[in-house]
Amino acid sequence: MEGLLDAGELPPLHGVVCNAGVHLSNALTTSADGYELTFAVNVIATHVLLRRLHAHLRKPARIVVTVSDAHFGDLRHTGGTMPAPHWAGPEIVSRPGAFDRPARIRAGRRAYTTSKLGGIHLVHEWARRLPDGIDIVSYNPSLVSGTGLARDAGRTLQLVMTWIVPLLLVTPLVDTPRAAGGRLADVVLGRTHAPTGSYVHRDRVARSSAESYDAAREEELWDWLEQV
Ligand SMILES: NC(=O)c1ccc[n+]([C@@H]2O[C@H](COP(=O)([O-])OP(=O)(O)OC[C@H]3O[C@@H](n4cnc5c(N)ncnc54)[C@H](OP(=O)(O)O)[C@@H]3O)[C@@H](O)[C@H]2O)c1
Repeated sequence: MEGLLDAGELPPLHGVVCNAGVHLSNALTTSADGYELTFAVNVIATHVLLRRLHAHLRKPARIVVTVSDAHFGDLRHTGGTMPAPHWAGPEIVSRPGAFDRPARIRAGRRAYTTSKLGGIHLVHEWARRLPDGIDIVSYNPSLVSGTGLARDAGRTLQLVMTWIVPLLLVTPLVDTPRAAGGRLADVVLGRTHAPTGSYVHRDRVARSSAESYDAAREEELWDWLEQV
């Protein structure tokens, strides 16, 4: 892709969406290069992709990183289904077995909430470093029914996503993939107003968790990711 952009065989790049994510039933699964897989896909891969593509972006441009309100890890945002993130520095949380009882489903959930917190930290740090006119925001789709996210997240979550969450589509709490994708398009195309570095909850700017604003932690994460 970089070669095609350089050669002018692709149109100028004005947007990047980092939407790939995984949610696993343990905190032990490893990526090909030995990192814990949730952190590898949800945080490291996002950074590596942006590192390769950001120089190709042409102003005005916007990068969107899909995160999750699961990063709050509290009753209000997750109904008690997700544990709070446990950030312990990138060197530790990127490793398999970083959380208590790492073979358990709860550790997989903690790896997920921690990685989504990491995604917001990443957005804050990139926002400090990108030039004016190249914005980056995080996007929380909230609960989306009918996606594959629960496929490796354990039987209970699969049952909840298959039988309970679809019932909630009649409420404003849950979206279909089409609706969530539409909101994601609105964010990357700039139809949803959002200053660089901000957190978009579905279709409006909101505050992410208090813990997610931590410049020292974000710089540490950046430095660590730059040596990956
Ligand atoms: N569903 C929800 O309720 C919800 C709520 C909040 C946030 N989110 C976030 O929304 C995003 C999309 O999730 P989803 O719900 O649409 O789940 P999904 O259907 O499982 O989609 C996840 C996507 O990530 C891709 N992916 C996973 N591992 C990858 C890898 N190693 N390399 C390249 N691509 C990879 C998958 O590709 P393949 O299909 O090819 O594996 C798939 O396209 C995720 O970041 C998720 O955390 C979802």
